[in-house]
Amino acid sequence: MDLISQLRTEHDLIEQVAGSLSTYVRARARGEGDPADGPRFLSFFRLYAGHYHHAREEDTLFVALQREAELPGDRGPIAVLLEDHRRMGRLLDDMCPAGTSPRRKRRHGWTGPRSSPPTRPRTSPTCSAVRAA
Ligand SMILES: [Fe+2]
Repeated sequence: MDLISQLRTEHDLIEQVAGSLSTYVRARARGEGDPADGPRFLSFFRLYAGHYHHAREEDTLFVALQREAELPGDRGPIAVLLEDHRRMGRLLDDMCPAGTSPRRKRRHGWTGPRSSPPTRPRTSPTCSAVRAA
């Protein structure tokens, strides 16, 4: 399976889980559903969508589009997609309890072990709420 087919398959899975999340949220609003599933959804979106899938797009697809199709990285579709990835990362970070998200700590002055600024957005792999689930 080529990269584009793999990424499409990953998108299909992410959309299916997003649909399940929507169903779960409606159930929770009615007082139904398992509260422990919330952190599991968060973990999926952080690890699979944010960390794994976005990295594959950014490290491989976007690089190829810039090199082979000569698309700019700082404007146009690649820049829009990178901003979407950043927005999703911030949204997921904001779902982590205060003080448990590595990205949120960095945003508030914690420099962490990273020796240089990130070259692309990356959702933090996990937060305490997810690890506790
Ligand atoms: Fe994607």
